[in-house]
Amino acid sequence: MEISDGSVRILAALLEARTGQQLAHARHWRIEAALRPLMAELQAVSMDALISKIVSGENARLSDRAIDALLNHETFFFRDIASFRLLDTQGLERIRVAREATRRLRIWSAGCSTGQEVYTLAMLIADQRERWRGWSIDIVGTDLSAQAIERAREGRYSQFEIQRGLPVVQMLRRFDQIEREWQVSDDLRAMVSFRTHNLLSSPPPGMFDVVLCRNVLLYFSAEVRGLVFGRIASAMPEDGVLMLGAGETVMGHTDHFVSDYECRGLYRKRIHAPLRPPVECAAR
Ligand SMILES: C[S@@+](CC[C@H](N)C(=O)[O-])C[C@H]1O[C@@H](n2cnc3c(N)ncnc32)[C@H](O)[C@@H]1O
Repeated sequence: MEISDGSVRILAALLEARTGQQLAHARHWRIEAALRPLMAELQAVSMDALISKIVSGENARLSDRAIDALLNHETFFFRDIASFRLLDTQGLERIRVAREATRRLRIWSAGCSTGQEVYTLAMLIADQRERWRGWSIDIVGTDLSAQAIERAREGRYSQFEIQRGLPVVQMLRRFDQIEREWQVSDDLRAMVSFRTHNLLSSPPPGMFDVVLCRNVLLYFSAEVRGLVFGRIASAMPEDGVLMLGAGETVMGHTDHFVSDYECRGLYRKRIHAPLRPPVECAAR
């Protein structure tokens, strides 16, 4: 099936305008694979015909569905486990010490896809009941994709999804098997909430002590990436902790954050007098 360069350009422009995501040339092959089910459902005679329908604006839901299909929702539990250990022992520990008086912790997982990242955070905290006893903890997961958020809220995963990254002991402790799927337990669900949110718009209300924005900024243009970093910074207190994907960095992309000099892989807001962390960082 052929797609004309013109159609690819129109679709790429629509995707970038709505999501900030750029469709790099190397990812053009994804278009066909992603849109084939929609093409069959609508009985479009060609990819070009389907793309004309999508961009015509005659059906707003159609363009939402096409954009959703083009987004990369890849995720799994404990993705980059070393980074989560670092977050737990250093980033969260620093916040725990700093918030001892209020005992309130808010975490934002931006671009959380189908929720595995959010439940990973909930498991990290739920596994250490004594450490977090008496704390009010809010973990907010957001994503542009309404479909992904619906799935995240449901917290139900296939056998394939549950096996990706999740230790068996966690699977048995935190999930119930329902026929061929695995349902996350009510105690984890009580710690989290989900909502749709576009990173191109203002952040969700309130301040977040810890923000995860992982494997989302990769396909933004430099300009959009800078804008999004600024918005994230505006939703964090001065001593907040930012965690990116394992292959991502703030260096060269924003002046709002600096690499944490004690814990590489975590980032903090650029402030005049950096605070020292309360504990030695093992993973340098
Ligand atoms: C590759 S997944 C990463 C999921 C998770 N953070 C992880 O690292 O495993 C990227 C997610 O970012 C979302 N996304 C892309 N552009 C976005 C935007 N402008 N605002 C919010 N979410 C966006 C996609 O819908 C997708 O679910």
